[in-house]
Amino acid sequence: MRILVAGATGAIGRALLPCLVNAGHSVVGTTRAANKTAHIRQLGAEALVVDGLDREAMGQAVRSASPDAIVHEMTDLKGAADLRHFERAFAVSNRLRTEGTDHLLAAARGAGVKRFIAQSFCGWPYARTGDNIKSEDDPLDPDPPQQLRRTLDAIRYLERTVTQASDVGGIVLRYGAFYGSGTGVFDGPLVEQVTRRRAPIIGSGNGWWSFVHIEDAAAATALAIEKGSPGNVYNIVDDDPAPVREWLPALAAMLGAKPPRRIPVWLARIVAGDHLVTMMTQARAASNAKARCDLDWHPLHPSWREGFTEIIRLRGITTAAS
Ligand SMILES: NC(=O)c1ccc[n+]([C@@H]2O[C@H](COP(=O)([O-])OP(=O)(O)OC[C@H]3O[C@@H](n4cnc5c(N)ncnc54)[C@H](OP(=O)(O)O)[C@@H]3O)[C@@H](O)[C@H]2O)c1
Repeated sequence: MRILVAGATGAIGRALLPCLVNAGHSVVGTTRAANKTAHIRQLGAEALVVDGLDREAMGQAVRSASPDAIVHEMTDLKGAADLRHFERAFAVSNRLRTEGTDHLLAAARGAGVKRFIAQSFCGWPYARTGDNIKSEDDPLDPDPPQQLRRTLDAIRYLERTVTQASDVGGIVLRYGAFYGSGTGVFDGPLVEQVTRRRAPIIGSGNGWWSFVHIEDAAAATALAIEKGSPGNVYNIVDDDPAPVREWLPALAAMLGAKPPRRIPVWLARIVAGDHLVTMMTQARAASNAKARCDLDWHPLHPSWREGFTEIIRLRGITTAAS
C-alpha cells in the first residue's frame, strides 16, 4: 500500500515510518521544514514539505503523493510544556484537528484515498462519572473545565468528521499518554520535576491515566490501516490503567527519588488551575479490549511499570536530585 503520514517528524510519526516501511509499504512523510526531509528519508520514506493549515498546498502534496491511505499525525505540541496555560498550548494543535483535518480530508477525497486514520486522545476527555476505565462507547465529558473546552471541542470535531467520512474509510485512534523515545514523559520536564519533588500528588490523586509506549502506538496504527473498521474509534492504550496516586510514586521510586509531596485541591486550584486538578483527581482511563480484538494488536509493553523501568535502565537515569 502507498501511505502518506502527515506529521512524519513528531513522536508518533518517527516511530510509525519504520513500522510501515518494514511491513512493505511505500511511505511518504510530511514536514513543514525542508531541513527535516533527510531524516524522513533515513527512515525509509519519501519526504514532502507542506503546511497542514494551507489547504491548497496540502491538496497538491496529496495529489503528488497519490496515496491509498493517509495517517493524520499533525499536532503542534513541541514547546507546549506549560500545561497551566493549556488553551494557549493547544491552540495550534486544535486548528490542526479542525482546519487541518478538513484540508487533509478534502485532499484525500480528491486523490481517491481508501483509508484515513486520525490521531485523537483518550484520558481526560472521557466523562468524569462512572467507571474508572472507559470504552470507546462511553461519553466524552459534557462539561470540561474552561481551559480544556476548546481542545475537547476540537477533539469532538475531528472524531465526528473522520468517523463520518465513510468515502475515505475514516478511523480514529485515541492514543493514551505516550512514553518512550521523543515523548514527554522521559524527554520533557517530568523526570526532573519528579526527582526534585516538584510534581506533587493533588488531593486524592484519584485521576486515572492510561499510558502507551510509542512503539506500541505505532504498531497499532499500522494495524489500523489494514484491519481497522471504517467509522470506528479505537483506544490505543496499554493493559494497565492506574491512578495518579499509584503511577506518580512508582515513577519516583524507579528514579530513586523521594515520594511525591501531597498538596490539597484548594491550593492546587490556585497554583495549577482547575483543569490540572481535574486531570489529577477525576480523569478516567481507557480499555484497549476493542483494539486488541479487532486489530489483533498485542502491545509489547503491556504495562507502563515495566515500560518505564526499561527506559530508565536503558538510559541510565538512576540518580535522584540532591
Ligand atoms: N497522546 C499523547 O500523549 C501525545 C500526542 C501527541 C504529542 N504528544 C507529546 O507532545 C510532545 C510533542 O509532540 P511531537 O514530538 O509529536 O511534536 P509536534 O510539534 O506535536 O509535531 C507533530 C508533527 O506534526 C507536524 N506539524 C506540526 N504543525 C504542523 C503544521 N502546521 N502543518 C503540518 N505539520 C505540522 C510536525 O511536523 P514539523 O514540525 O516537522 O513540520 C510533526 O511531524 C511530545 O512530548 C509528545 O509525546 C503526546
